[in-house]
Amino acid sequence: MTRHFTDIDDLSSAELEDVLERAAKYKSQQREGVTPPDLERKTLGMLFQKPSTRTRVSFETGMTQLGGHAVFLGEDDIHLGHGEPLKDTARTLSGYVDAITARVFEHANIEELARYARVPVVNGLTDDAHPCQTLADLLTVRETFGDREVSVAWVGDANNVARSFALGCALMEIDLTVATPEEYGLDEDILDRADSLGSPPETTNDPAEAVARADVVYTDVWISMGQEDQRDYRLSAFEGFQLNEELLSKAPDAKVLHCLPAHRGEEITDEVIESERSLVFDQAENRLHAQKGLLSWLLE
Ligand code: CP
Ligand code: NVA
Repeated sequence: MTRHFTDIDDLSSAELEDVLERAAKYKSQQREGVTPPDLERKTLGMLFQKPSTRTRVSFETGMTQLGGHAVFLGEDDIHLGHGEPLKDTARTLSGYVDAITARVFEHANIEELARYARVPVVNGLTDDAHPCQTLADLLTVRETFGDREVSVAWVGDANNVARSFALGCALMEIDLTVATPEEYGLDEDILDRADSLGSPPETTNDPAEAVARADVVYTDVWISMGQEDQRDYRLSAFEGFQLNEELLSKAPDAKVLHCLPAHRGEEITDEVIESERSLVFDQAENRLHAQKGLLSWLLE
């Protein structure tokens, strides 16, 4: 059966564990200079409708390191952006490549790709989910804290990154509190899915309350790709939710995550991102190892 990765809860807890273990192994193998060619002669097709630094480069590099190849297909490079239906693209690419990664606006488009593709489809970010990011986030938390119990506070917009992260925490039984302005909280769908996984997040509108008992504080931009026309409204709605030294003084030992790209001076200060407590560049590097773990699991 072809497995897809449209969101993190496409995996069971045991499968997520397997992917994370593979990722950690690939990371240490790369450190030792002995990455095995586990995806030799495999090709990854990469459909991207939005810009990307980390996701694009980590997938391409990950395929190279594992002995395979990636083909980047921007919207203007193929017929998809010029009227060819997604379902035709899905079936055509399935005849050429071994897996497809796609970064699209509507989550329904990833689901349609998965419905028609005969090879694994991987969500490289939609408006609703960013499960590949969650893999790297969980890998970073695990390598920082080992097996001890960890409390995480998400502060800001309960966006695509937060939604997949909340489900990932539920799968791994990580204690999560999500602090957002009232109108930007996690929606019922995510709360129900996290609940059915047995470990739903706490929610609050008070960032100070959320960070007070946190080992890790995580944030993302207030204005995601495609929301640029809401900029003024959002900047004022998220006032008080910035990760700055004052908020973090309530959690003196807490580490900081950000999926990047960051808008310094908006959701996070330059000082915090450059501080000793920041894990963001380890987190960014872990995208590479997480992609390798996922691809090897999907294509095995
Ligand atoms: N975090 C992340 O997905 O970054 P990119 O948009 O650069 O891929
Ligand atoms: N929430 C951000 C994440 C970017 C990686 C966005 O969708 O633009």
